[in-house]
Amino acid sequence: MGEQVRRAVYPGSFDPPTMGHLDIIQRAAQLFDEVIVAVAVNSQKQPLFSLEERVEMLQECCKALGNVRVAALDGLLARFAQQVGACAIVRGLRAVSDFEYEFQMATMNRQLAPEVDTCFLMTHQQYAFLSSSIVKEVARLGGAVDHLVPPNVAHKLRVKFTSTTAGTPTP
Ligand code: COA
Repeated sequence: MGEQVRRAVYPGSFDPPTMGHLDIIQRAAQLFDEVIVAVAVNSQKQPLFSLEERVEMLQECCKALGNVRVAALDGLLARFAQQVGACAIVRGLRAVSDFEYEFQMATMNRQLAPEVDTCFLMTHQQYAFLSSSIVKEVARLGGAVDHLVPPNVAHKLRVKFTSTTAGTPTP
C-alpha cells in the first residue's frame, strides 16, 4: 500500500484574509502534507469582496507555500472534505467566545463525515482579537491596517475604500 497523503481543508469566509488566517495556514502547512484553503460563499454574510477576489487574494498570499492551494467552497464543507479526500478540517481558535460556535460546527461536521476530524489550532496571541470585520471597519474609516493584513490585501482594501466617500480619512 502506498503512503497516504495527509490532506487538510482550512475553510472560512476570508473577507478579507488577515495575518491571523495566514498564521493558521502556515502552521497547518507544516502539520499536513497538503492544505486546501476553502473560501466559502457563505449565504449568511454579505461580503465586501467577491468570491473570485477572495480566492485571488489568498492565492497571492500563499504562493510561497508549495503544499497549499486555494479553492472555492459552495455547498457543504463536510462533503467537500470527503470529495477532496481530506482527513481533517482545520479551524483557528481565538478567544473563548469562538468555542461554542466551533464546537457546534465540528459536531455537525462529524455527523456528516465521521472520517474527517476537526483540528483546532490556537491563533497566535498577537491576532487573538483580530477579525475580518474589524479590519474592514478600520480600513473603511481610513485607519492603517498594514500590520494586520498581507500587503496585497491592504492594497485591495485601499482601492475598495478610496472609490467610496466612506473611506475618506477623518482629520
Ligand atoms: N485570525 C484572525 N481572524 C480569524 C481567524 C484567525 N486565525 N480565524 C477566524 N477569524 C475571523 C474571521 O476573520 C471572521 O471574521 P468576521 O466574522 O468578522 O468575518 C470570523 O473569525 C469567523 O470566521 P471564519 O473562519 O471565516 O468563519 P465563518 O463563520 O465566516 O465561516 C465556515 C465558517 C465557512 C467554515 C462555515 O460557514 C461552513 O462550513 N460553510 C459551508 C457550509 C456548511 O457546511 N455549513 C454547515 C457547517 S456545520
